[in-house]
Amino acid sequence: MASIVVKAPAKLNLTLDVLGKREDGYHEMKMVMQSVSLFDVLTLTREPGEGIELTTNLGFLPLDGRNLAVKAALALQEATGADLGHLTIRMEKHIPVCAGTAGGSSDAAAVLRGLNELLGLGQTKEELTEIGKTVGCDVPYCVLGGTALAEGRGELITPLADLPPCWIVMVKPDFPVSTPQLFAQWGEKKVRCHPDTAGMLAALEAADLNGVARRLFNVFEEVLPPKRRERVEELKRLLLDGGALGASMTGTGPTVFGLFDREDRAEETAWTLKRHWRETFLAHTV
Ligand code: C5P
Repeated sequence: MASIVVKAPAKLNLTLDVLGKREDGYHEMKMVMQSVSLFDVLTLTREPGEGIELTTNLGFLPLDGRNLAVKAALALQEATGADLGHLTIRMEKHIPVCAGTAGGSSDAAAVLRGLNELLGLGQTKEELTEIGKTVGCDVPYCVLGGTALAEGRGELITPLADLPPCWIVMVKPDFPVSTPQLFAQWGEKKVRCHPDTAGMLAALEAADLNGVARRLFNVFEEVLPPKRRERVEELKRLLLDGGALGASMTGTGPTVFGLFDREDRAEETAWTLKRHWRETFLAHTV
């Protein structure tokens, strides 16, 4: 029996832009991504035998091939011919589900990285990102992590200068989002404002945290139905009132986050918001 423990960090969008609809039905994206210290923890165990068994602390998640972690293990087996034996994936979820924080994609990336090490497959990061592309659009980014530009469907990754160290408060309001539906609404709505991605890249290059915070922007905020947009705006306001340098929604939402240069203010804001929003988290960059 051989076992490994792998951490899967959540991701945030410092910027999110949709450039247009593609012929393959997906959308052309331009996003600046950042991984943060809110982790799922996966324990991968290989024993003699066959089959993949997934267990998790969240009862409502699918445990079969619909779960990206299982899909990733199968994709790695298919691409490398690896003998997975009887593989157990124990998944301890901390990243909120359907929250715009790439929890499922990060779990899939952790399976790719973990199995590569556990089974001594010798795949490079580039090879793992290629396999990740077949699992989901955000998986290649999650294989690499850190600060990066994601283009194409989200799978074309360019590493960037690290976001300067800071504290991050994340809050998930309790309305659900459907990613395909929000993309469809983007098509109907024709958004007017776009992020200053070039300015964001320059601010990162200059290690200018204030410049980064000023340029946080997500086109999907404009696409949200008015009542939900109001709730996102309210959370952004509360984060800014608490001392955040900037605040934005991540992915297709609904999670909203703020960047802080002072730990005490971030902590205080997280404690205050947690009284009303159970899924509030304090994190830093990783
Ligand atoms: O990558 P993920 O599985 O989260 O995507 C969910 C859905 O979002 C896709 O099925 C598609 O409808 C939409 N999508 C898109 N363009 C992208 C990424 C996702 O239209 N670049």
